[in-house]
Amino acid sequence: MQFAVKTFAGLESVLAEELSRLGAEKVEPGTRIVNCEGDLRVLYRINYESRTALRVLVPITTFRATHERRLYSKVRQIDWTKYLQIDQTFAIDAVTNSQHFRHSKYVALKSKDAIADQFRDRFDKRPSVDTQRPDLRIHVHISNDLCTVSLDSSGESLHKRNYRVDTVDAPLNEVLAAGMVLLSGWTGERPLIDPMCGSGTILIEAAMLAANIPPQRQRRDFGFRQWANFDKALWQEVKSSAQDKIRPTQVPILGYDRDFKAIKISQQNILAAQLASRVEVERKPFERLEPPSPPGLLMMNPPYDERLNVDDVQAFYKSIGDRLKQMYSGYDAWIISSNVDALKSIGLRASRRITLYNGPLECKFMKFEMYQGSKKG
Ligand SMILES: C[S@@+](CC[C@H](N)C(=O)[O-])C[C@H]1O[C@@H](n2cnc3c(N)ncnc32)[C@H](O)[C@@H]1O
Repeated sequence: MQFAVKTFAGLESVLAEELSRLGAEKVEPGTRIVNCEGDLRVLYRINYESRTALRVLVPITTFRATHERRLYSKVRQIDWTKYLQIDQTFAIDAVTNSQHFRHSKYVALKSKDAIADQFRDRFDKRPSVDTQRPDLRIHVHISNDLCTVSLDSSGESLHKRNYRVDTVDAPLNEVLAAGMVLLSGWTGERPLIDPMCGSGTILIEAAMLAANIPPQRQRRDFGFRQWANFDKALWQEVKSSAQDKIRPTQVPILGYDRDFKAIKISQQNILAAQLASRVEVERKPFERLEPPSPPGLLMMNPPYDERLNVDDVQAFYKSIGDRLKQMYSGYDAWIISSNVDALKSIGLRASRRITLYNGPLECKFMKFEMYQGSKKG
């Protein structure tokens, strides 16, 4: 089978590594997508074990179209009874990047009509549409005149891991947080701290990575479970062999925040993720935090002065840089922010700088290697 695995911009390389590790073949990174091949076991493993996949699509047909009538007739030619029963529900996600099809909603509507009309013609009845919790999610992607129709094996986006009980105002997406940890190269061999942990996303994703916990351990629903070819025994086997690889965490994974509510929320999420024995959080402002030793990796997502306001953002980032210089020698500090000017105020030279997107915000994810007498930027 062919798979098209979606992710966020900037995470294609770490996703490609994950896919190879999970047994996929012919792994080819693109933009926000990695294409690969594999069997049903690989499909289940990617859905269950990949930390940076958002959706795993299985293309069923590709054709050329420059107008809606051809789109309609080509979608109608697919034998939908192979994938969908009359009493099941479906939904269409459409993405278009084409001069011929400018409106994705219209593409979705035409495709839906084609499927409904095929059923009505053959059976006088049609499956209903349910955009919230459909049995089958169908993905129509148009790039210029090339249309690809895929089945979405994931169903809801894979960032929904089912541990997030509550959030602070500007939480990181789970897939983005996991991708940041993977990009940093941290695998659980030295301590990790997040001094502005908010709802705890970085800590939770890091702890699951260090302990080999499958990111979807808490999740029950996946699109492929409603498919006619669902292999329950294989699915159980994939889950239990992933769970057999769970290992103890060797190092402290610590979070801090100055906000009492953030600490409460992160504790709830850590508990829901069954990580209470592996992650500790404490209320403390960064200004008063003494870094634990031995030194390890610091990762933080400070306010950008976008969704969370800061009185004097330049001074705030400068104080972060000063504190890192004074107290954190031996640490590698990774900071993500969309505020490029404020990042300059940190006053340290970055040894790596990666572009990532936090929702619509273009961010820099920067690495600062802290050693005695760190270079000034
Ligand atoms: C963007 S949020 C972090 C969101 C987090 N990554 C998540 O996924 O939920 C920034 C956090 O920094 C905290 N914060 C701001 N200034 C701080 C300071 N001086 N010391 C400690 N925490 C601070 C805020 O309370 C907020 O929870």
